[in-house]
Order: sequence, then C-alpha cells, then structure tokens
Amino acid sequence: MTHHFRFTGRSAAFSLSLVLGFAAAVPARAVEEGGETYREAFAGKFLVGAALGRAVIEGRAPGVQGLAARQFNAVTAENDMKWENLQPEEGRFEFEVADALVDFAAANGMQVTGHVLLWHQQTPDWVFEDEHGDPVGREPLLERLETHIRTVAGRYRGRVHGWDVVNEALNEDGSLRDSAWLRILGPDYIAQAFRMAHEAAPEARLIYNDYNLYQPDKRAGAVRLVRELKAQGVPIHAVGMQAHYGLTHPEDMADVARSIEAFAASGVDVEITELDLAVLPFPEGSDRGADLDENFALQEKLDPYRAGLPEDVAALQAARYAELFGFFLDHADKVSRVTFWGVTDAGSWKNNWPMVGRTDYPLTFDRQGRPKPAFHAIIERVRAGN
Ligand code: G3I
Repeated sequence: MTHHFRFTGRSAAFSLSLVLGFAAAVPARAVEEGGETYREAFAGKFLVGAALGRAVIEGRAPGVQGLAARQFNAVTAENDMKWENLQPEEGRFEFEVADALVDFAAANGMQVTGHVLLWHQQTPDWVFEDEHGDPVGREPLLERLETHIRTVAGRYRGRVHGWDVVNEALNEDGSLRDSAWLRILGPDYIAQAFRMAHEAAPEARLIYNDYNLYQPDKRAGAVRLVRELKAQGVPIHAVGMQAHYGLTHPEDMADVARSIEAFAASGVDVEITELDLAVLPFPEGSDRGADLDENFALQEKLDPYRAGLPEDVAALQAARYAELFGFFLDHADKVSRVTFWGVTDAGSWKNNWPMVGRTDYPLTFDRQGRPKPAFHAIIERVRAGN
C-alpha cells in the first residue's frame, strides 16, 4: 500500500551525498553581512519561509541553517512531521526532529507550519491494515487518525501556527483522489480530519494543501471542497497552493492570481506552501505537478545543466519569479505566507523528481548558498512597490 517515493541504489547514495554535500558546500556565513533579506523586504506584506530537510534541522548543514534563520520568518519540515516519521509504528511516536524544528523556529522568530496530518503518501502500511494485513475497517482507521492528529497537533498546540491538515486529496479534474483514505472512510474523511485537528489545536490555522491549483478544473474542485466544508461548519482557514512551477508552467502566470481570487472569494486565505521554479524540462507524460507516483528513467537530454546554470536561463527564471511575486504582492491582503520548498538548489527535491539524479536549480540560493539573480529580482520587485 505504501506509495514511497524511494531513492534506491545509486540514488540512495545520491540523496545521501546531497545531505553530506550541504555540510561542506555552504560556508557558515553564506550571505554577506548586511545583505538584503526576504524577512525584512517583505515585512508588512506576508511571511516568507522555507522547508527544511533533516540535515538542516539537525544542524549538519550549518551554512544553510544560518542562511535560513537570516532570510526567512516561516519554516516547514520538508519530511519530519509526516506520519511515517512521527508514528512509524502504531503507538511509537518519534518527535526528536520535529521538536528540534519547533525549537529552532522559536529561537529565530519563525512561524511553523506543520506538514502534514493526512496524506496518501508517506503514510506507513500499518495505518491501513488490520492485524492480519487485510484492509482495516472504517472505525479502527478513524480511531488511528484521531489518535495521530490528537497526539501530534496536541503536542505542538501554541507552537505550530498552522497545519496542512489534508494534502493532495484532488485529481487534476477536481474530483476526489482514489486513495485508501477515501475508499475506507468515504468522502467525509476530509471533514473528519479538519474537525480532529481543530479539537486538538483550536488556535491553529487549518489548511487544505495541493499542487496544480492554478489549473481551472482543479481550482474549481478546491473551491467546491472549501464551500462544502464551510457549509458543514468545518473549521478551514486557508488553501495551500504548493506552487511547484517551471519555466513553461503555469503557461499563464495570471492563472495563479485567478486561483488566489477564487479561494479568497470562497472565504479562506491563501498560503503559498511549497514554491519552487524548476528550470529542467519535464518528460513526456508528466502532469508537471508533484505526483510522487510519477517516476521516469534519467534521460541525459533532459538534464542539460549538469555543468552549471547558464546566465540566460538564470535570467529567465529571475523574470518569472519576479512576475509571480508581483501577483502575490497584488494580493497581499489574501496571501499570508510564501514558503519556498527548500533553501538552496543543492537540497531541492527537484534534483530527484520526476527523474532521480538530475541537476536542477529551482530555488533562489545556489549550491553554495549565494543569492541568485532570482533572489535579486524578487527583492527588486517588492522594493518597486505595487
Ligand atoms: O531519510 C531517508 C534516508 O535515510 C534514506 O537513506 C534515503 C534513501 O532511501 O531516503 C530518505 O528519505 C527520503 C526523504 O525524501 C528524505 O530525503 C524519502 O525516501 C523520499 O521519499 C523523501 O522525498 C520527499 C517527498 O516529498 C516524498 O515524500 C521529498 O524530500 C519532499 O520534498 C517531498 O515533498 C512533497 C510534499 O511533502 C508534498 N507536496 C509535494 C512535495 C514534493 O514531492
């Protein structure tokens, strides 16, 4: 049942090298003293955050950790608050890394978003199986979900500002994804998860998170979902637009603004939860979102920048980031946070998805932690005002 997006063999070593690479490649003071920072430049507009991998959280990448503390006022655990890491076996909770993230955030004036209470990925097999290994029944699964949410969201009550309660429950056409959660609990599972989260942490902002929400059909599906939840009195406060974008998608960046407006009109805020802007081409057949079940064999022709990012491509990426942040700033009354899905290009998941072992450049700090043209273009855009 597990849909693990596993790095195997060569790529396991590859992902390990990424982690070790951090420790050496980024000097302790990656961005020169007195340089511009996102948290200062966007003060009064919206929070700007980053997802942190385990190496960064545990201090094994001191340059990246310091860069994150200087630049960002919001953090998300890239993996370490997911079910498979917090409760790998029924009743055995592992909070050490999540506690370290929450402590790091508190020490650096950063708001924490918990990612993620209910997802069809990275959820251990045991959750959906009975003692015989057969599919678990509805009541036991509801009890397991309630125990997980109450224990996790309850532990961080008052310290985690918001939760991605449900992640990626929609298909590209806006219908409900066929997952074990849906098959065993029925469509009401989403409302149940939000109610459990609110019960465990009444002050927390509760978010529905998904990718490709700039697409009109998926946007409409999310609007329907939000309206249904609100009609039932279910506490939902924001839609999380993951925003895993590229040089050619969204084809029309204004679709992002249309979605922000549509979600706001349905009565919730918008949080940009996992922003990156990849520069590598997608293989044929990819939905260009973030469906981890997609995996393609490495094709050299789709990995053109192994030797470095050409200046013209870096400039194109900078222009698209500036355009995107222009839309975010135009809607700063509706957008409460923009979080990048990583700190530097070295640690990005995009180096290994949808193909393992590529060299992508999706973020705004390079592999040595230096600001890229995209960083300067974003800062210039906010300095230019609306
Ligand atoms: O930590 C283990 C390591 O011990 C082991 O040696 C290695 C090889 O097996 O695997 C490591 O775990 C990997 C983990 O990333 C940390 O690197 C997992 O296999 C791998 O599946 C996991 O990938 C994560 C992916 O979600 C799958 O869950 C990515 O880092 C993470 O960026 C990505 O994030 C998701 C969001 O949660 C939801 N939205 C889409 C986004 C991108 O897929």
